[in-house]
Amino acid sequence: MSGRIFKQYRVLKIMMNEAVKLLARSRFVIAFTGAGVSAESGVPTFRGSSGIWKRHRAEELATSEAFRKDPHLVWEFYRWRMDVIRKAKPNKAHYALADLERMGVIRAVITQNVDDLHREAGTKNLIELHGNIFRVRCTACSHREYLKESGRLDEFLAEKYLPRCPDCGSLLRPDVVWFGEPLPRNALENAFVLAERADLVLVIGTSGVVYPAAYIPRIVKETGGKIIEINTEESGITPIADVFIRGKAGEVMSEIMEEFRRLI
Ligand code: APR
Repeated sequence: MSGRIFKQYRVLKIMMNEAVKLLARSRFVIAFTGAGVSAESGVPTFRGSSGIWKRHRAEELATSEAFRKDPHLVWEFYRWRMDVIRKAKPNKAHYALADLERMGVIRAVITQNVDDLHREAGTKNLIELHGNIFRVRCTACSHREYLKESGRLDEFLAEKYLPRCPDCGSLLRPDVVWFGEPLPRNALENAFVLAERADLVLVIGTSGVVYPAAYIPRIVKETGGKIIEINTEESGITPIADVFIRGKAGEVMSEIMEEFRRLI
């Protein structure tokens, strides 16, 4: 091992130990996750060199104006994403967070992801700030449908035409939050309340630049709590993180869990 790599390894170990100690002594822990937590599951992230917004223009696909202008294009994009995501399986980071909840350590996972992988891994108290890609809603009436539950997912993906509401015949849209749209009010309010109460937030795999979601770790910090961040790169949150662990979410969380189980 070269000197530089040995030093990096030592820093990583110190940070990891620090994170485990913080986790063990905190009383109200929450997690705040972004696309990076699902990267090891094969779900593409948004920013970064191979991110979705490098290959596609967000304003042509993820705004209500884009949907009005070209619903075919927007649905083509969302059907592709749904198909990629439904083949993905939760990774070790998703399972670690679900385990921590079962152990009574984590109170809630607040996610910006729409991929359902936290739920599949077993997280119960899940707050989805940006909606869920497997839910659709009518653009005219109150119809809402969770395609995994209604059993229409296969049919929905095979269909080439624009999806129509079974109740009123109007256009259906993905039940996700597009740029410029408000976040679901209950979800955001609950997330802010949890952030105020939390004495520790695990921030995993987010660039931390999309608001209002990015307020979550900032609220924890401002109300006296600590931040552990896990990310392959520095992010908008790194400057205020108490512990920054550079690495892949699944790999880092497995190591943290191993140490944590030894400690408690
Ligand atoms: N482990 C940990 N972090 C990772 C990994 C990994 N395996 N792979 C990538 N990352 C990090 C990147 O370094 C980056 O900081 O995950 C982050 C992903 O950032 P974004 O792609 O910007 O995703 P996110 O922060 O969730 O985006 C927020 O923006 O486009 C909108 O609505 C969309 O919810 C999304 C929001």
